[in-house]
Amino acid sequence: MSTENAAATKMIRITDKEFLDLTTFVKSKYGIDLTKKRVLIESRLSHELSQRGCTSFQQYLDMVKSDQSGNEMTTMLNKLTTNLSFFMREKEHFIFLEKEVLPFFEKTRKNNEFRIWSAGCSSGQEAYNIAMLIDQYFGPRKGRWDTTILATDISMRVLTKAQKGIYTEQELSGLPATWRSKYLVPRPDGTFQICDKIRKEVVFRPGNLMEPFHFKRPFDLIFCRNVMIYFDAPTKDSIIKKFYDWTSEGGYLFIGHSEGIGSNSRYRYVQPAIYQRRS
Ligand SMILES: C[S@@+](CC[C@H](N)C(=O)[O-])C[C@H]1O[C@@H](n2cnc3c(N)ncnc32)[C@H](O)[C@@H]1O
Repeated sequence: MSTENAAATKMIRITDKEFLDLTTFVKSKYGIDLTKKRVLIESRLSHELSQRGCTSFQQYLDMVKSDQSGNEMTTMLNKLTTNLSFFMREKEHFIFLEKEVLPFFEKTRKNNEFRIWSAGCSSGQEAYNIAMLIDQYFGPRKGRWDTTILATDISMRVLTKAQKGIYTEQELSGLPATWRSKYLVPRPDGTFQICDKIRKEVVFRPGNLMEPFHFKRPFDLIFCRNVMIYFDAPTKDSIIKKFYDWTSEGGYLFIGHSEGIGSNSRYRYVQPAIYQRRS
């Protein structure tokens, strides 16, 4: 928004009742806890209200709830959640994958397949990063392996970016130089696109972690990093339970280093932010 527009947009205040309605609704449908984000809600949504001619948050929320297309809901969530992601985030996980998980799977897997889920994938960096690591690890042997990655998020905006796989030079700064030249294709406008080979390894889909999970088979690796920070303890417990049910025996769950899985979980602790379902 330009300074002029910002000045022209008068901040619309949220009442206590509207704040309660909005936070309860978002919490029950998406698990996202916004009860400490009053200022953020006002500042990030005020402009949306004005643009739609709404004079109160109640009017806006009614409109969001009644929009059958779900577009308004998506816009609201995009404004309220943080989609920050970057390549090589929490590098220890990639080291563990390369040194422990992949060699073990390669030795023990009979069907040459393992299933991976990036849950809360944002704009795709995590899923592509895993695909690059797997390609790098297997090298010429990769052709014998089916390692498709499912990547899901509630935000259509980030999924659209993820699917394109186009990043700026700055967004790629975490990647090793050799990976950049191997897996990224420069574009005329100065940005870079993930190469076809790696893009084909990832399937992006919309998905809300609050809803029941329906998959054909369990996953060997589930990454849900820096997503559950939004959820309160009961919501987190119930999502972790669902993850457990959809982790294969001996499979792993990776969470963000600033997150925990609580004490009720049946996962075995492996190392910080890595858990395993017992065989
Ligand atoms: C901070 S990003 C994390 C991205 C990536 N996992 C990483 O660690 O870099 C959090 C993502 O979780 C998504 N998210 C939040 N609540 C969700 C829900 N209920 N279901 C699915 N995705 C959700 C957000 O849309 C956002 O893209």
